[in-house]
Amino acid sequence: MIDIHSHILPGLDDGAQTEEDFLNMAKAAIADGITSIVATPHHQNGSYMNSKGTIEKATEISNALLNDKGLGLTVLPGQECRLYGEILEDLERGEILPLNHSKYVFVEFPSAQVPRFSDKLLYDLQLAGKIPVIVHPERNQVFMKKPDMLYEFVKNGALTQVTAASVAGKFGKKIKSFSLDLIEVNLTHFVASDAHNTTNRTFHMTDAYDVIHEEFGDDLVYFFQENAHYLIGNQHVMLEQPKQVKKKKLFGLF
Ligand SMILES: [Fe+2]
Repeated sequence: MIDIHSHILPGLDDGAQTEEDFLNMAKAAIADGITSIVATPHHQNGSYMNSKGTIEKATEISNALLNDKGLGLTVLPGQECRLYGEILEDLERGEILPLNHSKYVFVEFPSAQVPRFSDKLLYDLQLAGKIPVIVHPERNQVFMKKPDMLYEFVKNGALTQVTAASVAGKFGKKIKSFSLDLIEVNLTHFVASDAHNTTNRTFHMTDAYDVIHEEFGDDLVYFFQENAHYLIGNQHVMLEQPKQVKKKKLFGLF
């Protein structure tokens, strides 16, 4: 299994802090069935700056360590970048690191906001030959209230990634239900862990795929697992026609 979103590299952000944390996360990933993991440290989110070169170096060191310890996991370089005004300029300057050097770039929104310039930046990224992948839309308060905004972004070429723990119900019923809604209407293309540690923000990939299997069957499990393969190989991913999230009937009225 491939996990395309993690904070496994030590000492760069609010994920693994030490080499020991890193190795413990690697063991937990392997135990969850993960063989390749994209390390996506935060960048430009107001707390952390991790540009391309820093992440590439840390990835190299981490793979050497895994090799030394005989652990069967490969770390690939990536970055979780907040959507910000100068992202295009920084892409040109070589500070932005697409996932495993592919055309796919992770973009994160503030959790309570979708900035007004978002549609333009998502469009400009595509003009620059990149495909924006919006991370964890199911945990964004604006998308929860107005899923049509996410529908517009996807219709206009953005992809999205839901968090395994959300699908598995670890962030509560509401977020699980919204995650399943997004899967149902083809508004998401990847499932990934966004793991930060081995305790309260761990992998849950197997848990998530169990839920997807139960709710939607084998085809969807295959769809998400194959898309992760395609992404790290810089190939086209599978897309289904996006639809709008159905409005929920209000309790008590029906
Ligand atoms: Fe993340």
